[in-house]
Amino acid sequence: MAKRSVRALDVAHKRVLVRVDFNVPLDNGRVSDDTRIREALPTIQYLIDQGAKTILCSHLGRPKGQVVESMRLTPVARRLTELLGRPVQMAPDCVGHEVEAAVALMQPGDVYLLENLRFHPEEEQNDPDFARQLAALADIYVNDAFGAAHRAHASTEGVAHLLPAACGFLMEKELRYLGEVRDHPQHSFLAIIGGAKVSDKIGVLQRLLEQVDRLLIGGGMANTFLLAQGRAMGASLVETDKVPVAQDLLRQFPQKLVLPSDLVVTQRIEADATFQVVEGNVPEGFAAVDIGEKTQGRFAQEIGVAKTIFWNGPMGVFEKPPFDRGTLAVANAVASSGATSIVGGGDSVSAVQRSGVADKITHISTGGGASLEFMEGRALPGVEALPDV
Ligand code: 3PG
Repeated sequence: MAKRSVRALDVAHKRVLVRVDFNVPLDNGRVSDDTRIREALPTIQYLIDQGAKTILCSHLGRPKGQVVESMRLTPVARRLTELLGRPVQMAPDCVGHEVEAAVALMQPGDVYLLENLRFHPEEEQNDPDFARQLAALADIYVNDAFGAAHRAHASTEGVAHLLPAACGFLMEKELRYLGEVRDHPQHSFLAIIGGAKVSDKIGVLQRLLEQVDRLLIGGGMANTFLLAQGRAMGASLVETDKVPVAQDLLRQFPQKLVLPSDLVVTQRIEADATFQVVEGNVPEGFAAVDIGEKTQGRFAQEIGVAKTIFWNGPMGVFEKPPFDRGTLAVANAVASSGATSIVGGGDSVSAVQRSGVADKITHISTGGGASLEFMEGRALPGVEALPDV
């Protein structure tokens, strides 16, 4: 069932609390990747144009209920000011008298950014009183934070029950694209799943394997599958307790699972380290850090015949070049495939951007964990809490 859209509400001159996911990477006090901010602009601009008083709120990082100076949203306010071409005032906190007083002075068209919600432990506890304090700031609630929709927090779930609520344009877009691929994929349907751990992705692997025609596994999690097949993995990251799960999936879906055949291995996971490529066992003291060229070729072949592709997670230690080559090769293959493609998760999204092929991807999701839980078929609390159309 579709969720009510912000378009359905009369927002003119109203105070609108908008939950956004501005959990963006910072480097030396600057936003180093503003994708999530840009993606929220259509909703913010719409509210400005409608003459609403826009009160934005977000988390940044995991400050665990305390004020952490490096996790203030000030750099985000600065970047948003540049992108909107109008001043975005930064709040001293997300609740309290000072914030209430500042909101009371807002004029139609003004944009105010509340300080990091997670500076208060009550946010993650979905504390009803904290949700009430947030709700008291506004007349209407809009959730545009798809990336945080898998969290049942006060700002994503609790507050949605206290005000007339709706989803923003980014939330709508994410649900539409991901919903289409999850529920009506065109075959051949291919999933590419990478990243460090099997344990983070067991649910989505099981669900995807029931639906896809092929599932390519790369990154650290492939090591556990290779170990399950009897390959020695040297000093590679493996989750020995997940070997039975991997064995079970290999037994259930032998035709669908495609694992790396060759691996880039090194003794030191550093950018300047020497490396070699192995096809069989990983030697003692060496760790697998990327997929090799043969695997890249095999993966590209599978990608080339797919009609629908869902990709989450890097193929290796992407943040340390040259161990980013496998991930970049996958990004290029997905971009030139002509398939309907959905990419989610920080590193796979950066790979697509670094390869300069982002415009060839059908939909780049702003959700990492959220897109995985959605694809797994789990209800997202932040979405569930919004009224249906
Ligand atoms: C994300 O970056 O995936 C979201 O912002 C959620 O962040 P969290 O995993 O800290 O809840």
